[in-house]
Amino acid sequence: MATTSPRGLRTTLPARVYTDPSWFALEMERVFARMWVAVGRADALRGAGAFIRRDLAGASVLIVNGSDGVIRAFHNVCRHRGTQLCSAHDGAFRGSIQCPYHAWTYGLDGQLLAAPQMDEVDGFDRSEHPLRPMACAVWDGHVFINLGDAPEPLASQLGDLPARFAPWRMQDLSLAKRIEYDIATNWKLVVQNYNECLHCPVIHPLLNQMHHYLGAANVPSTGTYCGGAMGFKDGVETLSTDGKRRRAFLPGLSAADRALVNYFAIYPNFLLTLHPDYMMTITIWPVDPGRTRLIAEWHFHPAEMAKPDFVCADAIEFWDRTNREDWAISEQSYQGISSRGYQPGPYSERETQLWEFDQFVLARMRHGDAETPR
Ligand code: FES
Ligand SMILES: [Fe+2]
Repeated sequence: MATTSPRGLRTTLPARVYTDPSWFALEMERVFARMWVAVGRADALRGAGAFIRRDLAGASVLIVNGSDGVIRAFHNVCRHRGTQLCSAHDGAFRGSIQCPYHAWTYGLDGQLLAAPQMDEVDGFDRSEHPLRPMACAVWDGHVFINLGDAPEPLASQLGDLPARFAPWRMQDLSLAKRIEYDIATNWKLVVQNYNECLHCPVIHPLLNQMHHYLGAANVPSTGTYCGGAMGFKDGVETLSTDGKRRRAFLPGLSAADRALVNYFAIYPNFLLTLHPDYMMTITIWPVDPGRTRLIAEWHFHPAEMAKPDFVCADAIEFWDRTNREDWAISEQSYQGISSRGYQPGPYSERETQLWEFDQFVLARMRHGDAETPR
């Protein structure tokens, strides 16, 4: 697939990479079902039985905290006749997970505890029918799953990120606000929009008062993430509705870290934005080629949240407004790309990370069997 023009310009991808249902299906298989995918925060799974459900790449997954404090992930499918066990998005199981159909009952560790009428059946052994597990790992409070059979460790996908972001002590932060968005665009356009600020003067009047839009210092992209940091304009201390910082700096940050916002897209579905005083996370959930769900969360230090005068509306309102501006233009971008007039167009030097993200997708898509797309 050409990603440069005859004159050697780097170009955007053909329309079908964004719009074709068979491309999308293969992307779910080769990108989302083979990589570690961010599902949420350990903080949301406090206490035995706490769970979240995520639907991804044709799988429905339960991520459950066990009685032993270990977070595990299982297919949300009963081992009897395949009924979906749980239709709630999140909640807490009381000690066990029971199928609503014939009451097969599983422990929080996935073991089958009870299967009515089955114990008399010759050859039936409960221990052979636990919930089907998948790989689950936690990085600094962020929970990831991997649908693959024998995945590489999460650490190999994250590379130097754990060391890079250790000063933010992300595992200590607590959720203050979650907003879910359901938007009419392809998931890759959300990642691409996140990775450039050329649009900031046009799309984001408020954000553009906070950063200089050409001021990003990007780190070299790897095969699994890209990102960089941006400083503030004079008088701005953090990203909030007026640029004022109403919370203490996160403990552990150097003077340099306190003056920056880090923007990292961790492939395939995790947008991590670290501010001097809070963290915003966005997980990306492709539904179909032209539809994507997004879960945005704002996390703060518990010592700040415990203060009687704690406020966070300034940070949430700032990003909710800015995010909606991004979602609207990403939807409009999808409209154009999926219409007859679209042809791949040239990237500028300021869009190198987007081209590199395209190469990441294409490399993953080639990494398969006979049906390699061209
Ligand atoms: S399908 Fe779950 S108990 Fe029968
Ligand atoms: Fe934006």
